[in-house]
Amino acid sequence: MKAIAQTVYGPADVLELREVARPAIGAGEVLVEVRAAGVDPGVWIAMTGRPWGVRVAFGLTRPKVQVRGRALAGVVAAVGAQVTGFVPGDEVYGTSSTGTFAEYVAAKPGRLARKPAGLTFAQAAAVPISAVTALEAVRDGARVRPGQKVMVIGAAGGMGAYAVQIAKAYGTTVTGVCGAGKAALVRSLGADDVIDYTRAEVDRDGGVYDVIVDTAGCRPLSLLRRALTPRGTLVIAGGGHDSPGPVGGYTRQMRAPFVSLFTSQRLRGITSKERAAELDDLTRLIDDGVVTPVIDRTYPLASAADAIRYVAEGHAAGKVVVTV
Ligand SMILES: NC(=O)c1ccc[n+]([C@@H]2O[C@H](COP(=O)([O-])OP(=O)(O)OC[C@H]3O[C@@H](n4cnc5c(N)ncnc54)[C@H](OP(=O)(O)O)[C@@H]3O)[C@@H](O)[C@H]2O)c1
Repeated sequence: MKAIAQTVYGPADVLELREVARPAIGAGEVLVEVRAAGVDPGVWIAMTGRPWGVRVAFGLTRPKVQVRGRALAGVVAAVGAQVTGFVPGDEVYGTSSTGTFAEYVAAKPGRLARKPAGLTFAQAAAVPISAVTALEAVRDGARVRPGQKVMVIGAAGGMGAYAVQIAKAYGTTVTGVCGAGKAALVRSLGADDVIDYTRAEVDRDGGVYDVIVDTAGCRPLSLLRRALTPRGTLVIAGGGHDSPGPVGGYTRQMRAPFVSLFTSQRLRGITSKERAAELDDLTRLIDDGVVTPVIDRTYPLASAADAIRYVAEGHAAGKVVVTV
């Protein structure tokens, strides 16, 4: 089968469109014929091996998994003997850690769910990482309640565009933080107000936000805390993946719970669990028309390197998807 693969860490130039063996599935796995694969900064992290600390998991000197891509939408081609709940022909979406920029991928059933019927494969592939993390940040990390004032930083990005929609679905008032030219998009997602970060900082209005969901910009905790109410909650879901050092900007996620011990504000970082349960919750929100994927660009499989280059520029308006 065709796949986008690499043997060494590096920039997108290290990626090649290659013929590789179709994955063999174990008794507890599902073989999916991939129709589309989402692109997000995590793909850049796995490709570059940066920040360096991720190499402990991804391979110290070279990537252990050579095929890139993690989010997928496709059709079940075969199921292992122990798999219940999926049969060949089912349209699914989810994640796999063995590389989704490929014609087929082996996936664990606990990371797959039925594709929302109203979405194309490209739209569905835009959901599994970004929307799941947004849901985990807004609902589980921040525990938003109706009437709260919520700020989403990076509101036009792959994750932020979902976080705005999900926060609105919970009955909150949302301020989106984005760059110049993205205000109309962010308002169209339901944001009540917009801060253009090139003109004003997030503490423009003082400490008025009950919740901040931070996905971009890698601002210092002290600045973010100035925008929070005294008992407000900060959830750091991203930002700083391309900062220097062994863990890049993740020092903020690591420091947040420690600082939280000494303040009435609740500060925390989250990492997505990428579970089917959250995908099923999202399917309901999508079916109800509450959440809609925003697709910035799609690229054919052979141009996956260009898709990653574009995401790496850090100014996507919604999601970037590779079609297979
Ligand atoms: N915790 C997890 O499990 C998890 C899961 C997925 C992603 N992530 C992380 O979350 C982060 C965002 O991912 P993503 O997919 O949303 O990325 P993305 O699609 O590249 O979006 C990033 C957005 O950030 C905005 N931005 C750039 N600089 C900014 C600044 N200084 N202030 C405010 N906004 C700014 C950009 O908008 P403008 O063009 O308007 O600047 C862009 O829309 C990444 O660091 C990623 O690694 C974490």
